[in-house]
Amino acid sequence: MSGRPSGVGAALVHESAELHVTGQALYTDDLGIRHAGTLHAWPVQSLYARARIVRLDPTPAYEVPGVVRVLSAQDVPGVNDAGVKHDEPLFPDEVQYWGHPVCWVLGETLDAARHGANLVRVEYEALGAVLTLQDAVEQQSFQGTALHLRRGDVQAAFMEAAHVFEGELEMGGQEHFYLETHVSLAYIDEGGQLFVQSSTQHPTETQEIVAHVLGIASHQVTVQSLRMGGAFGGKEMQPHGFAAVAALGATLTGRPVRLRLNRTQDMTITGKRHPFLARWKVGFHHDGTLCALAAELYSDGGWSLDLSEPVMARALCHIDNAYHIPHVDVMGRVCKTNKTSQTAFRGFGGPQGMLVIEDILGRVAPLLGLTPEELRARNFYQSGQSTPYGQGVKDAGRIGQIWADLLAHSDFHARRAEVAAFNAAQRHTKRGLAITPVKFGISFNFTAYNQAGALVHVYRDGSVLVNHGGTEMGQGLHTKMLQVAASALGVPLGCVRLAPTRTDKVPNTSATAASSGADLNGAAIKDACDQIKARLAAVAAGRFGSNLHPDDVRFEAGRVFPIGHAERGISFQELVHDAYHARTALWASGFYRTPGLHWDRERMQGEPFKYFSYGAAVTEVEVDGFTGAYRFPRVDILHDVGDSLSPLIDIGQIEGGFVQGLGWLTLEDLRWDVQGRLATRSASTYKLPSFSEMPDVFNVRLMKKATETGVIYGSKAVGEPPLMLAISAREALRDAVRAFGQANGVTLLASPATPEAVFWAIERARTPAPVAAD
Ligand code: MTE
Ligand code: MOS
Repeated sequence: MSGRPSGVGAALVHESAELHVTGQALYTDDLGIRHAGTLHAWPVQSLYARARIVRLDPTPAYEVPGVVRVLSAQDVPGVNDAGVKHDEPLFPDEVQYWGHPVCWVLGETLDAARHGANLVRVEYEALGAVLTLQDAVEQQSFQGTALHLRRGDVQAAFMEAAHVFEGELEMGGQEHFYLETHVSLAYIDEGGQLFVQSSTQHPTETQEIVAHVLGIASHQVTVQSLRMGGAFGGKEMQPHGFAAVAALGATLTGRPVRLRLNRTQDMTITGKRHPFLARWKVGFHHDGTLCALAAELYSDGGWSLDLSEPVMARALCHIDNAYHIPHVDVMGRVCKTNKTSQTAFRGFGGPQGMLVIEDILGRVAPLLGLTPEELRARNFYQSGQSTPYGQGVKDAGRIGQIWADLLAHSDFHARRAEVAAFNAAQRHTKRGLAITPVKFGISFNFTAYNQAGALVHVYRDGSVLVNHGGTEMGQGLHTKMLQVAASALGVPLGCVRLAPTRTDKVPNTSATAASSGADLNGAAIKDACDQIKARLAAVAAGRFGSNLHPDDVRFEAGRVFPIGHAERGISFQELVHDAYHARTALWASGFYRTPGLHWDRERMQGEPFKYFSYGAAVTEVEVDGFTGAYRFPRVDILHDVGDSLSPLIDIGQIEGGFVQGLGWLTLEDLRWDVQGRLATRSASTYKLPSFSEMPDVFNVRLMKKATETGVIYGSKAVGEPPLMLAISAREALRDAVRAFGQANGVTLLASPATPEAVFWAIERARTPAPVAAD
């Protein structure tokens, strides 16, 4: 129990790094192997994008040796619905998308279940389907309510504007492609208590849905999320139905049931990032400052609502990005289409909203006679200004500070000249360079979610066990939480262990999402540790004597001493031993709720965020004019994580977030065919960023002296904001494409800007440009 510096701020590797790289880390599916008699589940998937199920006959499946049970609607004792919005029948009578699970077959082996599923007879009556976002908008196929965010008077502002432009932007979705697909393992104990191991970001909600489906109380269901092999938002709401199927199977058969999707099932059944269509009109003053923005945002929500409304709310709340826009009128509508139900994905709509304004600025800069970097800088928020939803941007100065630092550090202006010289000398290869900012609001828009709990035990030998409500998906939350507990109790990291996340330890938790896992759970852990420490300090003060006030007892590196008298110190263990004998409660539950938040969902006004995260990135690209292929020679990032809880973890999050954003904007291209079948349903057809697409030079720095007061140890969230730094790569591509043309006009770029899309953009750039923005 001794050790290296290990508290908050230490540059530690991920707590499971060794287990990850040696293959010893266990994931939900590994746990199933340990249970004898585990049954395996396989879905019967719909062959239509939309159809009524006329007849479902499972009997042929039972002829397959090893098929144990076919689960369907009449087996559900509770509510046949897996959605929080009650629009997701677990066993549907009308299939809503191609691949929609109709029923599930349980087998002694996976093969038996699969063969059984192939034999289940389903008769469909095909119904008309809505398959594209454009069609949905035209047919007004919407779900949920329209959201409006307004400030000022855009019409009047457009009248007075020196320049007004209009345009449209369509952007693609994104497959999460977590390494570990969706998986649940359910079993039942002698008292009928259900235990569900699930790869879920939201164990509490998984627990609730399982309870609803089974018609039992929450206290009969325990959900554990040991660790996830990636989640990225895809396991915030989507695991529930799979957990419910496994739990139902376990209840009916009395045997453990394992449900793990293979990659193609995962891609065809589960939701993705929402594609968006944006129609906009923007006004500028003579000097290039924005005066008004009107926009309609349509997202492709797929077949059910899921998290589409809050995703849209976040999109609307990030359409300003880092820019002050005095007059704003933006509307958001979720479309209903016959596709997978699109869901949370790193950034949660923020990237889609932000891409709209960044695309606008990138497009129109030449029309305003400004470089894109100058146009962006002229519009940054200044202190005292507020967002369209009424939240003050109190530390707006950080945007300009980061910008100036990064321009200097990346040698931007000199490289701009080099790029120009290169482009003048080369006909078939062009380079591009761009810098873009990120401002991202931290907290759940929905105020109630901003709470967390923890349970901390100190055992009699001085060792510490921490439970908290957050889940580990690779982002390093557990590492940070160990560091917080070690710092809060003044003990070495080796004294602290983390228990798996379970609903019977910490109840009523929020999803680990919105990047707020460390902020919320860290503060709850610290609250618990502070309570324990206060009790221990009282015991210590008694022991040190001479009227020592408990506040003057210090806990540091496993030693406890009166302030200024380290030599009089005793070990933490010794104090704990004393405290136990003095009958002191050595454990505590901690709780935290983010102060100061309020949000009027109807008017979309309030203070939804505790603070903003800032960053900026410079990306350079080189594009081949014959093929549209490109590579990124260099990326420079400066990002604000406050006082980092764990710098290596944070740098990993920034690098990973950027590359994932790069995938969304440049490579990953989801295609559905005319019958609504997902054509890109495995790694062979869906291009992900890999080593070869990494930037050759990748400089990531954390902003210095960045303490964020009122957040756990002065830190800031890091999980999602860096994804949007990749917009700089798209803007660099635009810059390079533009260099292929002669005109000073608008350069349009599809999103994703795949090599193919870049090729066509180059072809357009080579033909004389239109004058309008669209
Ligand atoms: N990093 C890894 N390695 N794997 C993930 O699944 N999810 C991202 C981000 N970073 C993810 C990740 C998303 S979508 C969010 S909201 C945050 O981590 C959640 O964790 P946090 O709140 O602890 O930052
Ligand atoms: Mo992250 S999209 O909030 O799970």
